[in-house]
Amino acid sequence: MQKVFIITGANRGLGKAFADILIQNENHFVISISRSQSDEQKTYEPENFYFLKSDLSENTLEKNIQVLKGLIANQDIYFINNASIIEPITKIEHLDENAIDKTISVNIKSTMLITKYLLRNFSNHKLSFVNISSGAANRAISNWSLYCASKAFVKMFFDVAESEYEQHRFFNIDPGVMDTNMQKSIRENDFPDSSNFKNLQEEGKLKSPKDVALEILNTVL
Ligand SMILES: NC(=O)c1ccc[n+]([C@@H]2O[C@H](COP(=O)([O-])OP(=O)(O)OC[C@H]3O[C@@H](n4cnc5c(N)ncnc54)[C@H](OP(=O)(O)O)[C@@H]3O)[C@@H](O)[C@H]2O)c1
Repeated sequence: MQKVFIITGANRGLGKAFADILIQNENHFVISISRSQSDEQKTYEPENFYFLKSDLSENTLEKNIQVLKGLIANQDIYFINNASIIEPITKIEHLDENAIDKTISVNIKSTMLITKYLLRNFSNHKLSFVNISSGAANRAISNWSLYCASKAFVKMFFDVAESEYEQHRFFNIDPGVMDTNMQKSIRENDFPDSSNFKNLQEEGKLKSPKDVALEILNTVL
């Protein structure tokens, strides 16, 4: 039976790695909920790939995801909650309201809306919810208040979801430190712990998103 994978932020970084691996199996159908497509993704066959253009910081997601009803038949469904923003990296006194709204929309609200939609409309399917979490969900990092708090929020949201829906599967997975744009923007910011992140790159300790995606898929598939 074909499996459907709904991935947020699938155009680059870890999300792209998931999409690129999953698409290689003809029994997989990947739905990318992202703002853009990678060049490779533009060449993927419509039988295996659907690009649902959506900016998760805007109030359009609930409307946009209605299209999923027409795309999914009797398949098992995997939701990989991947898209996230870490900036602004700054002390709390410097946060502005727009940045707070944006982090809440991208990192928290989009997850809740997609999770709710799938539970409401596809409860008779085998549903697997995979939250790409972070060590920051459990560890306070100075100047990362929005990111840490958003990661902790979603982790707890998934824990509660698991308690409500025992028939479905919920995963909170910390991917570890990876060589993506998110790490690049961390290194470009100045904050008390920034030298540790620069050292990780200099010492070659960043994991490749492809390796991480394979590891996570081995756990959840
Ligand atoms: N990298 C690490 O070391 C690390 C460590 C622990 C956890 N994680 C977690 O791993 C996951 C993937 O991170 P990554 O390192 O791959 O990050 P990344 O390279 O920064 O990629 C983030 C993804 O989120 C998407 N995104 C951001 N804002 C969006 C918006 N408004 N609407 C739609 N999509 C949006 C981006 O798309 P655009 O191109 O449109 O911006 C991109 O596809 C995240 O949940 C992150 O918290 C990462």
